[in-house]
Amino acid sequence: MIEFDDVSFRHQNGVMALREINLKIATNTLTAIVGENGAGKTTLVRHINGLLKPYQGKVLVFGEDTKKQSVAKLSRKVGIVFQNPDHQLFSDTVENEILFGLRNFGIEEKHDRLEWALEFFDLSRYRNVSPMLLSGGEKKRLCFACVLAWDPDVLILDEPTVGQDYKHKEKIVSMINNLLQKGKTVIIVSHDLEFLWPQQPRTLVMSQGKIIADGNIAEALSDDSVIKQANLVRPQLLALAIALGLKPPSNVKEAAKVLAR
Ligand SMILES: Nc1ncnc2c1ncn2[C@@H]1O[C@H](COP(=O)(O)OP(=O)(O)O)[C@@H](O)[C@H]1O
Ligand SMILES: [Mg+2]
Repeated sequence: MIEFDDVSFRHQNGVMALREINLKIATNTLTAIVGENGAGKTTLVRHINGLLKPYQGKVLVFGEDTKKQSVAKLSRKVGIVFQNPDHQLFSDTVENEILFGLRNFGIEEKHDRLEWALEFFDLSRYRNVSPMLLSGGEKKRLCFACVLAWDPDVLILDEPTVGQDYKHKEKIVSMINNLLQKGKTVIIVSHDLEFLWPQQPRTLVMSQGKIIADGNIAEALSDDSVIKQANLVRPQLLALAIALGLKPPSNVKEAAKVLAR
């Protein structure tokens, strides 16, 4: 459903941020993209909603070449919550920020969607406040609220856990599970391997513009050279399982059972 066919991308300053990427992401799956700073993760996801177009190769979304579609049309289907909220927020109030996308896409039940988004992301008390006055974590939640409100088929979260406390990380997990149940496709770019681990996503490891490992999260992080090259630290449960030569448990409960045995 999302397909990268031999995609390379060069930024204006000459940096090659993607090198010959071949990738298929199926509908209704959870995919994580991990890797060092500057690996090309953000550049890759920006190709999915057409914000960036390949310099070589092509990107197909729902079978259509992104070069032949407008960003506006693609954004209706592919929502990105950006890494830096300050690049996404521009309205005078929190409420208008959420309404902007809904109006833009001509969505009918605007007010129901607005109320749902304010409530779900714990933002109701700020509805008449300027987005610029919110804390970092609140700004990020407002970005989630804006994109989720228009209900895209593909949701891309770029570093979603930065600035979030435990309670709000749990909310993000429940939001992701909800979306997957509704048949959506979710892609998470994150450094936070401890956050990703319990969700057991398909994991792509990137380094220097290339995908250097791809598989379920335990497989993708199993190779020492991949971990080293991508500058990653394994989640503790995986590190423990590898040290003990056990099948990696996906959560503490499972680990406790195996260890007790
Ligand atoms: N707008 C830009 N202009 C020029 N170079 C960029 C731009 N955005 C990113 N880069 C460069 O492209 C490479 C990949 O960046 P990025 O995709 O942001 O990596 P990541 O999200 O994995 O940290 C880096 O070397 C970065 O410096
Ligand atoms: Mg990035």
